[in-house]
Amino acid sequence: MKVKHGKAKLSTAHFAGVQKGHGKNMAEIKFFGSADMPLEMHKVRIIQKLNLLPIDERLESITEAGNNTFLLKNRNVFLDMLTDSGTNAMSDRQLAAMMTADDSYAGSETFYRLEAKIGEIFGTKHFLPAHQGRACESLISQVLITGENQIVPMNYHFTTAKAHISRFGAEVVEIIIDEGLRAKSDNPFKGNINTDALKELIKTRKKDIAFVRIEAGTNLIGGQPVSMANIKEVSGICRDAGIIVVLDASLLADNLYFIKTREEAYKDVPIRDIMRELGQLADITYFSARKLGCARGGGICVQRDDLMMKFRELIPLFEGFLTYGGMSVREMEALTVGLEETLDMDMIAQAPQFISHMVSELSALDIPVVTPAGGLGCHLNAKEILSHIPQEKYPAGALAAALYIVSGIRGMERGTLSEQREPDGTEPLANMELLRLALPRRVFTLSQVKYTIDRINWLYQNRELVGGLKFTEEPKILRFFFGRLAPDSDWQEKLVKKFKEDFGNSL
Ligand code: F0G
Repeated sequence: MKVKHGKAKLSTAHFAGVQKGHGKNMAEIKFFGSADMPLEMHKVRIIQKLNLLPIDERLESITEAGNNTFLLKNRNVFLDMLTDSGTNAMSDRQLAAMMTADDSYAGSETFYRLEAKIGEIFGTKHFLPAHQGRACESLISQVLITGENQIVPMNYHFTTAKAHISRFGAEVVEIIIDEGLRAKSDNPFKGNINTDALKELIKTRKKDIAFVRIEAGTNLIGGQPVSMANIKEVSGICRDAGIIVVLDASLLADNLYFIKTREEAYKDVPIRDIMRELGQLADITYFSARKLGCARGGGICVQRDDLMMKFRELIPLFEGFLTYGGMSVREMEALTVGLEETLDMDMIAQAPQFISHMVSELSALDIPVVTPAGGLGCHLNAKEILSHIPQEKYPAGALAAALYIVSGIRGMERGTLSEQREPDGTEPLANMELLRLALPRRVFTLSQVKYTIDRINWLYQNRELVGGLKFTEEPKILRFFFGRLAPDSDWQEKLVKKFKEDFGNSL
């Protein structure tokens, strides 16, 4: 669909409140009597009651869930830090906009508002809607992987992106900078692509490169950002070589914040201009709107007409008609507003500020976490915390189960369990064994974060009690979603016993 670069109808009056005070944000608020800490620039107006089960019932729940936090029932979870996907708090403006949705199979006014907003902020020509990020990955792989033995160089894979690329017969080649795989570092942009490695690949295998993928806010290595300078360089190299650049903008909100705060050349550039510049550097920008824009859905932004025509044929086949692509019109309205709100520093600073607080508090307790603090969540380094558990026994998965037992907090394993076996059945060991504690945007309070830190600290002090896990049911594809595991000894009962000794009858 062709995007007119006019302002979306809702923009001027609707966002007046958001635009005020532009340039200032909570990071700049100093405290008089205590150390600086994150301060919410929003208030809570709708709440959801939480339930913290007693520890015996938590042990029962995780056992029923096959020690896989994906299989826990939300009613048994206290703080759900599984993901930020579709779980970000929405704003009053987003909810209000949902009521203005224009329900229509074809030609919905809601779609044109979203299309115009996307054209305005990314400066891209066409927008093709899809039901979520992985649908975009499936379509992009289908359109761009056209031959045998193709490769897709990228900073780092994301689970669903890799699964779709493999499904169409191509191979993921990771060319992240070395520092990206070091859990502890002070490199501000650990998600950067090693451009020498990219040039070398172009020299040796140019004809096999289906496309180059850049993932903003690199998920699996701890939500680590990519610098604008790196994206520019990669884009330039690929343009010269005639290679298509695909930007995964799902975690762009955090990445924008880090470009603004960590990249000297951009500290005075408005977020709106940074976003637009990024949109110009890729041939295709896709995103999960479950993350970017705090709604549910996704889409592909395309500059070239010929590429748009190829995607256009597939959208009605797999997603829905071209003016909704599988999304509900209400979510599309919320997304239009959510994307505009992403240009507000207070909005995009909230999660990184909370994550940074959590990372520095845990570091002060000598608990191994991924540094520097990234976006998405706080990432515990399970390889170090549970160094007595070999990777074949899934230390990050064991840490996820243990943390749930001692706190009711649900995190997500991001390590060997999240990898896929090779076709010959061998199990690749992940570069990192992380327990991700996602902080969905604007959802948790600082006291909930403090409770989390407290329970992690207790678990760390008792880490020698934690043992490994083994599969009892192992699906072939994306096994971490529904695989079931069991502890390799009675370590979970021992952990519960020690918790009761230390905490008495406290939940
Ligand atoms: N790309 C990135 C970087 C992601 O983090 C995700 C999803 C996707 C693509 C796929 O988008 O879920 O809308 O299909 N990440 C979620 C997570 C699932 O929990 O990290 P989707």
